[in-house]
Amino acid sequence: MEYVIVDGEVLDRTVAKVDIEDRGYQFGDGVYEVIRIYNGKMFTGKEHLNRLVESAGKIRMKLPFSPEELESKMEELISKNELDTGIVYMQFTRGTSPRNHVFPAGDVAPTFVAYTRKVARPVESMEKGVRTILDEDIRWLRCDIKSLNLLGNLLSKQKAAEAGCFEAILHRGETVTEGSHSNISIVKDGVIITHQADNFILNGITRQKVLEICSNESIAFEERAFTLDELSSADEVFSSGTTVEVMPIVEVDGKPVGNGEPGPVTRNLQNLFKGEIERQCGNL
Ligand code: PDD
Repeated sequence: MEYVIVDGEVLDRTVAKVDIEDRGYQFGDGVYEVIRIYNGKMFTGKEHLNRLVESAGKIRMKLPFSPEELESKMEELISKNELDTGIVYMQFTRGTSPRNHVFPAGDVAPTFVAYTRKVARPVESMEKGVRTILDEDIRWLRCDIKSLNLLGNLLSKQKAAEAGCFEAILHRGETVTEGSHSNISIVKDGVIITHQADNFILNGITRQKVLEICSNESIAFEERAFTLDELSSADEVFSSGTTVEVMPIVEVDGKPVGNGEPGPVTRNLQNLFKGEIERQCGNL
């Protein structure tokens, strides 16, 4: 049996139900998180749960559970589903009420849903590197919120998939922002450059962990917007995200990055990041 959580209750997935007028279903009016599980343990769980509370606050939604309560519910779900390597997905919507753009009046409770899924580490892609395309970033101006509204992301990711690529690197005019489902960094002369955490990108937990590792290891980095020209002349490019960890990018829009192989700075970060996973969750 596969267990899920609906409104705080652990249920058999086949009997779990959400109303057709749930505001997440109708408007994408909600927020979500994806947390990586290694050896049955959450990696950077607290950071993800704190960001969930922050995202909810930014859309004026108050969550009925504290991060600590959510953490123990997620632990229960992971253990009931006997998950070893995978993800836990959770989302809160502004609840169920007759369709109306205005927030529901009174104390309509948010709908809370969570489930787990087995997801292997993408070891082969991490070893060889992946191909990407470029795409104009057509999303709204609050990409810092991990909202359920992902249409802009989906259209770009679909374009990438149809081109046989792993990711679409998004840009607003000349400025690179992030990927359709990951953050993007470049390496030039040994310095890592990644877009600053503002309203144009999701401040990835993986991105933050990578920068923390850089600080601890005295690896130079800059948090600033970089251009398409800087991207095309970068020595190395990598993507970072919960499911993909640190992923070398070896091609952008048909052009090789550097010599077309994962570079040494990215390799070093991959190893340091793996070390951090093992420190939190045990040997991989
Ligand atoms: N995506 N930017 C975007 C647009 C993302 O969707 C994600 C993650 C990231 C990386 O964030 P983090 O390191 O916290 O996972 C950056 C998740 C995994 C998803 O939607 O499936």
